[in-house]
Amino acid sequence: MPSIKKTQFIRDLKEKDTVSSPFLVKFSSIAMGKNGKPYMNLVLMDKSGECEARIWDDAPVYAGQAVRDAFIQVEGRCQLYQGRRQIVVSKISVVREDEVDPKDYIAEGTLDADALYAQLLGYVESMQDPYCKALAEAVLRDDADIVDRMKRAPAAKSVHHAYKSGMLEHVVSIVGTLDHLARHYGKYLDRDLLFLGGFFHDIGKLWELSYDRVTDYTMEGKLIGHLVIGVELVTRKIRELESQPGRIPGDKFPEEKMLLVKHLILAHHGKLEYGSPKEPHCLEALVVHYIDDLDSKINSIRVFTEQDQTPGRWTALNRMHERFFYKPDWAMPENPA
Ligand SMILES: [Fe+2]
Ligand SMILES: [Fe+2]
Repeated sequence: MPSIKKTQFIRDLKEKDTVSSPFLVKFSSIAMGKNGKPYMNLVLMDKSGECEARIWDDAPVYAGQAVRDAFIQVEGRCQLYQGRRQIVVSKISVVREDEVDPKDYIAEGTLDADALYAQLLGYVESMQDPYCKALAEAVLRDDADIVDRMKRAPAAKSVHHAYKSGMLEHVVSIVGTLDHLARHYGKYLDRDLLFLGGFFHDIGKLWELSYDRVTDYTMEGKLIGHLVIGVELVTRKIRELESQPGRIPGDKFPEEKMLLVKHLILAHHGKLEYGSPKEPHCLEALVVHYIDDLDSKINSIRVFTEQDQTPGRWTALNRMHERFFYKPDWAMPENPA
C-alpha cells in the first residue's frame, strides 16, 4: 500500500499556487546561471501532464537526488514564465517507489485502450486480400506480446501522442483516415496495403522505446531505430506464416507484396533527411507518409493548445512549429476571467 497519497496534480496547478506534492522526474540537468551559479532544470510529471521546474539554490546538493526516473517530494511555488507554468522549487526530498502508487505518475490517453484495440481488430477483419489479412492477424491478433505492448506504448518520447496507449490512438486514427481515402480514390489506392502501412509504419517503436515509467529510447532504438525494427518484424512474421501449412494460400507470401509492405514502412518519414532510406515510390507510401505526418501534427498542436495557460485567444510561442496558435472555444478555460 502506498503511504504517500497524491492529491495535487500538474493539470490543476495555477500561477501562484503553493506546490507540495510528489512527482516523477522526467528530465534533469544542471545549467550555469548568468551570475555564475549552477541551477537545476527539471521536467516533472504525473499522470495529468508535465511541468518545468527550476532549483535555483543548492543545485549541486540536489543533483544526485532529482535524477531521471526518481520520485521526489517537491515543495515550491508555481509561476508563469513566457506563458508556461514553471515550478520554482524551494526544497526536494527523495521518495521511495513503494511509497507511491505508480498509476498516479504515468500519463494516460483519454480513450479506452480495450475499446480502441477492438476497433483496430475490426479494421483487420474488414481486409480482403488473404495475404495482407493473414499478416495483420499474425501481428496484431495472434501475438500476445505485441497486443500487450500496443495497448501500453506511447507513440513518441515527447512530440505527439506521448502518453499511455498513444501509439494505439495514433494507429487507429490513421487507419480510420486511410479507410476514408481508400473509398474516396477508389481503384487508385490499394486499401489493404494502405492498412498495413497504417498498422506497421511505427510498430518498431514498441521496441524502440521503453515505456514502463518515463519514456526513453532503448539500446535497440538508439542503434537500429523503428523503421528497420518494423521491417525485421514483417520479414519474421511472413516467414512464420509460410512455415505454418494452410495459413496463407500456397504457403508462400507473394514477393512483390512483401516488398511493398516493407517499402511503406521504410518510406513513411517521407524524406532521406527525416530518416527514411527511401522516399515514397508508390501512391500508398505517399498517402501513409502524409497521413502519419498530419495525424502527429494534429495531436501535438491539439495537446499544446489545450495545455497552454496564456490568458486570451493566443497561445505562447510553439517552438516546434515556430508560431502562435489561435485558441478556439474547446481550448479555453470553462469560465474565462
Ligand atoms: Fe515513424
Ligand atoms: Fe507515426
